[in-house]
Amino acid sequence: MSIEFIDLKAQRRRIKDRTDAAIIRVLDHGGYIMGPEVREFEGQLAAFGGAAHALSCANGTDAVALPLMAWGAGPGDAVFCPSFTFAATAEVVPWDGATPVFVDILPDTYNMDPAHLESAIEQVKREGKLSPKVVIAVDLFGQPADYPKIADICRRHGLKLISDSAQGFGGTLHGKHPLEWADATATSFFPAKPLGCYGDGGAVLTNDEDLLKVMDSLRVHGKGADKYDNVRIGMNSRLDTLQAAVLIEKLAIFADEIEARNRVAARYSEQLALYVGVPTVIEGGISTWAQYTIETAERDALGAFLKTKGVPTAAYYPKPLHLQTAYRDFPVAGNGLPVSEAKAARVISLPMHPYLDEATQDVIIAAIAEYAGAGA
Ligand SMILES: Cc1ncc(COP(=O)(O)O)c(C=O)c1O
Repeated sequence: MSIEFIDLKAQRRRIKDRTDAAIIRVLDHGGYIMGPEVREFEGQLAAFGGAAHALSCANGTDAVALPLMAWGAGPGDAVFCPSFTFAATAEVVPWDGATPVFVDILPDTYNMDPAHLESAIEQVKREGKLSPKVVIAVDLFGQPADYPKIADICRRHGLKLISDSAQGFGGTLHGKHPLEWADATATSFFPAKPLGCYGDGGAVLTNDEDLLKVMDSLRVHGKGADKYDNVRIGMNSRLDTLQAAVLIEKLAIFADEIEARNRVAARYSEQLALYVGVPTVIEGGISTWAQYTIETAERDALGAFLKTKGVPTAAYYPKPLHLQTAYRDFPVAGNGLPVSEAKAARVISLPMHPYLDEATQDVIIAAIAEYAGAGA
């Protein structure tokens, strides 16, 4: 039996007829750039995410960059973000000259530690070299960060808040999407993401109409009201119409898929808790389970053993950003990031997708039980 880490083909079989028809409609009408499906999808995405507005763009990296650019985060500005995340979260900060300041994570959810964030902001203020401007919280592995606490800190210190929901779009906290607390939510439609397309894509959601207008201009070269008068330095970051057409079909089954992901995760947790550390979800939170990530002191050995059993795994993320070559000269808050460093050595993600059937899951669980038995 070959086990997929993320089985995109199973989803493709479910929606093949509808996506194929949608793609052919676009090929026939020919509006490949900013065609009608782009607007239609943006409206549906905003409704799904509880937002007044959704602005699609070329990828999830640009989706994090757009609000930063719109707010003018630049030289002298500090942007606080976790180090235990994908590079894109921090990568966009220095694009316009701002400085990422790395903050530690909580040991149970792997998301930004609000207490460490607050001490980081106070430290930056005390040192007086940078001025705190924005916080980027990440919904790592699919579950929402502690937005009520993080947003309260942002409000008290006068900072903007981005939820980087590239992995967690669709996840909620007490029934609300992160945008309930954040100024902007960024998401990615990279194919392996919970809501993915068939290429690159991304979007920013916001309730702030002024922010929307500036980002709308930035995504098309800084366009102004007069087409031939660009009013700011922008970029080319449009979502292809073909991808929007695919996403309309995928969004239609997304709520159902989130439920299925939660069933798979619950079954893993029930049966694996005996052998390994299983994930903790924040109280009141619903995860989209972009990854189902377990913890063990023998991460590499377990991964190698599972490979011999035909079970694919991945280590997200073996090296936190503040230890990586491109990022190690940026400031790290407090006395380092001990939780990020410890978790990077222990986490391992298992196959996870909405179409993981029980028989296949049983093979994965049995292999982990066998490893634990052999190691005991
Ligand atoms: C947390 C996080 N932020 C941002 C991104 C960037 O998304 P994209 O690959 O669409 O640029 C990703 C995806 O890989 C991600 O996991």
